[in-house]
Amino acid sequence: MLRRLALGVLPFLGSVLAQAGGAYVDPDNGITFYGYTEPAHGVTYGFVFPPLGSTSNEFIGEIVAPIAGAWAGVSPGGSMINNLLLVAWPNAGKIVRSARYTTSYVLPTAMSGPILTDLPSSKVNATHWKWVYRCQNCVTWATDSGTNSIPVGDFGVPAWAYSSAPVDTPSNPQSTFVEHTDFGFFGLDYSAAHVSDAQYQIWASGGSGTGTVPPTGTPTTTPTGPTSTVPAIPYDYIVVGSGPGGLVTTDRLTEAGKKVILIERGGPSLGFTGGNYQPDWEKGTNLTKFDTPGLFETMFSDSNSFWWCKDITVFAGCLLGGGTAINGGLWWLPPDLDFSTSYGWPSSWVNHNPYTAKLKARLPGTDIPSTDGKRYLMQSADVTAQLLKSSNYVNITINDNTNYKDHVYGYSTFGFLGGKRAGPIATYYKSAIARKNLVYKPNTMVLNVVRDGSQITGVKTNDNVIGGNGIIPLTAKGRVILSAGSFGTPRILFRSGIGPTDMINLVKADSVAGPLLPPQAQWLNLPVGYNVSDNPSINLVFTHPSVDAYDNWANVWTAPRPADAKQYIKDQSGVLAHASPRLNFWRAYSGSDQKTRWLQGTARPGAASITTKYAYNASQIMTITVYLSTGVTSRGRIGIDAALKAYPIVNPWFTDPVDKAVLLQGINDLVANIPKVSGLTMITPDNTTTVKAYVDAYDPASMNSNHWVGSCSINHVVDQNTKVIGTNNLFVVDASIIPSMPMGNPQASIMSMAEQAVAKILALAGGA
Ligand SMILES: Cc1cc2nc3c(=O)[nH]c(=O)nc-3n(C[C@H](O)[C@H](O)[C@H](O)COP(=O)(O)OP(=O)(O)OC[C@H]3O[C@@H](n4cnc5c(N)ncnc54)[C@H](O)[C@@H]3O)c2cc1C
Ligand SMILES: *[C@@H]1O[C@H](CO)[C@@H](O)[C@H](O)[C@H]1NC(C)=O
Ligand SMILES: *[C@@H]1O[C@H](CO)[C@@H](O)[C@H](O)[C@H]1NC(C)=O
Ligand SMILES: *[C@@H]1O[C@H](CO)[C@@H](O)[C@H](O)[C@H]1NC(C)=O
Ligand SMILES: *[C@@H]1O[C@H](CO)[C@@H](O)[C@H](O)[C@H]1NC(C)=O
Ligand SMILES: *[C@@H]1O[C@H](CO)[C@@H](O)[C@H](O)[C@H]1NC(C)=O
Ligand SMILES: *[C@@H]1O[C@H](CO)[C@@H](O)[C@H](O)[C@H]1NC(C)=O
Repeated sequence: MLRRLALGVLPFLGSVLAQAGGAYVDPDNGITFYGYTEPAHGVTYGFVFPPLGSTSNEFIGEIVAPIAGAWAGVSPGGSMINNLLLVAWPNAGKIVRSARYTTSYVLPTAMSGPILTDLPSSKVNATHWKWVYRCQNCVTWATDSGTNSIPVGDFGVPAWAYSSAPVDTPSNPQSTFVEHTDFGFFGLDYSAAHVSDAQYQIWASGGSGTGTVPPTGTPTTTPTGPTSTVPAIPYDYIVVGSGPGGLVTTDRLTEAGKKVILIERGGPSLGFTGGNYQPDWEKGTNLTKFDTPGLFETMFSDSNSFWWCKDITVFAGCLLGGGTAINGGLWWLPPDLDFSTSYGWPSSWVNHNPYTAKLKARLPGTDIPSTDGKRYLMQSADVTAQLLKSSNYVNITINDNTNYKDHVYGYSTFGFLGGKRAGPIATYYKSAIARKNLVYKPNTMVLNVVRDGSQITGVKTNDNVIGGNGIIPLTAKGRVILSAGSFGTPRILFRSGIGPTDMINLVKADSVAGPLLPPQAQWLNLPVGYNVSDNPSINLVFTHPSVDAYDNWANVWTAPRPADAKQYIKDQSGVLAHASPRLNFWRAYSGSDQKTRWLQGTARPGAASITTKYAYNASQIMTITVYLSTGVTSRGRIGIDAALKAYPIVNPWFTDPVDKAVLLQGINDLVANIPKVSGLTMITPDNTTTVKAYVDAYDPASMNSNHWVGSCSINHVVDQNTKVIGTNNLFVVDASIIPSMPMGNPQASIMSMAEQAVAKILALAGGA
């Protein structure tokens, strides 16, 4: 009685009409699994993986079967040959299981490599048996000809096998058995089957969880299979991207009763949106990394940084809220100069005040973010204020005096509410998502708009289940609004045949995107990507004996100061209710070209990079970042490479030497007063390096402020109604249409702009 055939010859996938799995929470252990209960025998197969991009090579799985199931098995990779096969059965009240492997259609034998650990919720009771396991070395494995793996970033079609006949020696995990009595497949979107590393570790080490099923409407719970189709419903407005531009627009369009779909390539962020990425010390709360202002600096140090857009070479947020889900939260209501004709706006735009007032009514901003009305960790603000007072700066509440931007300083102001990140997510998104005329479609990427000459008929997405081809159509008078950001919107335009010919030719050469381009006769040659601008910024690092550098933010994720963590959990007060900035200032300068340029400064405890050969006390470090804002004249160009990755083709910092001279003068003016502040020492640059040498040698990549504007400037790429020139019904509402640098960190200016843009779009004749 040697080998008998097992698992048979599994037929191949494409033709299989697979049923689709989704997310569920196992009540016995609280784990959110992604899987499927096959109806014929009632067996459930589930999986959950660490974050995408993790190198851990493992997953947690379960098989739950009625007692009539003598054995059951699963192939997460979807076929029998060269695949990880997991088999289990009950014996004497315990689960017996093994990982097996075969290179031909014979009984699979023990697989070397996988390490199986049974998790505590495994059990056998009167009616069921359940195997919950951790499988290490299990996502990728060696085969005779290389490696094979579970498609963790993609849609998969796992196979299951079931038998009502017992195995030959139930006590032996390597027992032989006869061929399964039934088998089948199910579709599973593995790309959604991931949880935070912190959450995964808890479950993998046997902890029970506060698993949650993602809100319905996400791909994980939409019943879709590789061969199924959901109807393509037409919309009045398709909004692409949920950054500040897209969220303000979506809220106002739905408020006006339009039928809208908002498409976002990323997943949830704040806790109330379904986000659950949190440090251990926030477990048991609805707070996440994105909610917690004091975790801002960890955006840059986290090894699991799933929120950055991986196909853009500079920092950009690819999740609900876009940049506003991960940024520093600085919130500056725009001064009149932000919308003046001298900085590129049409005269129809200069009266921004009604729109800025609408914005302020939704989110006033606060310079006391802690809910107890106190300010915390203010030493860097006090030291910087002393430095500025000695240069005749005056102290104001910045957002109460938006047009005062010369020789002023004040406390950093944030777009937070109740001690938590808010921005457009906890305001505009919150009201929009409650309306029945909005469909929100996360985890879906728009590839291009579908054009019939100048008429846009819909958008093409990467979700081919929609209409069988991924196309979401517009109603007859419908409109598309691109809000995919300064890099994301240009890429969609290039892929739609709109932009400079060199960029469209790169698309044409791409085997996937090329065939989706409209015919060359319909290409629209617009200067998309030209004339972009970002604040050049330079960091100065100091020490002062009064400063608490807060361990340079290094411990806030894993081991924050216990009293601060406790206070924040209790009522969202304390140090962790602030993002890192503490004080901001502005000064106007006249350059050698007679143009006015404004200098902005931001002070905070800690430092990103220190270069000195002298010893210094790392517990006392603080940084002043000095930038050029409105008036900066340098311009760059952004575009895509042959892999369609978006990047700055020409960096926008210091292409005009006058910008550099003004910033240098601003730094020298600050530094000149250091001796007037007792105990203040500049350590980067230190006293062996001149400010000029420091600025000359500054790495351009570090000069990036992540405030990109201008790649689809108004009057050049879009008209004064924000409609793409040469189209009937394609609009852009995001940072890319802003023609020159706003005065402060730009999110509030972008949102005032969006309030005004959507009002103009709604008023424009011809639309739905
Ligand atoms: C690290 C960092 C810190 C910052 N700090 C501050 C600050 O403190 N204060 C401040 O005012 N500003 C700050 N900013 C800048 C601010 O966040 C951005 O200017 C702002 O978010 C830009 O808004 P947007 O609507 O143009 O685009 P984004 O915010 O970039 O949003 C675009 C959205 O579109 C989605 N998307 C892109 N392409 C597609 C596609 N093809 N299909 C579907 N969806 C798509 C993206 O996932 C994203 O959600 C910071 C930015 C960064 C990166
Ligand atoms: C046995 O366990 C299964 C799976 O957890 C559960 O659904 C079932 O109710 C349990 N049966 C009994 C009799 O406790
Ligand atoms: C988390 O949010 C849910 C839904 O809003 C709420 O029911 C629950 O009480 C919250 N939990 C905590 C710990 O705040
Ligand atoms: C500005 O002045 C007020 C009133 O004197 C004071 O309370 C506040 O701390 C000062 N602000 C700064 C940033 O120094
Ligand atoms: C670029 O900016 C310059 C100066 O601001 C302006 O004259 C020019 O028209 C702009 N061009 C485009 C394509 O935006
Ligand atoms: C460094 O600074 C901290 C905090 O101010 C202080 O407690 C410590 O004594 C300083 N260390 C030295 C060596 O001066
Ligand atoms: C430079 O700074 C170091 C350390 O702060 C100090 O020891 C040294 O005397 C300074 N040199 C000069 C020339 O000021």
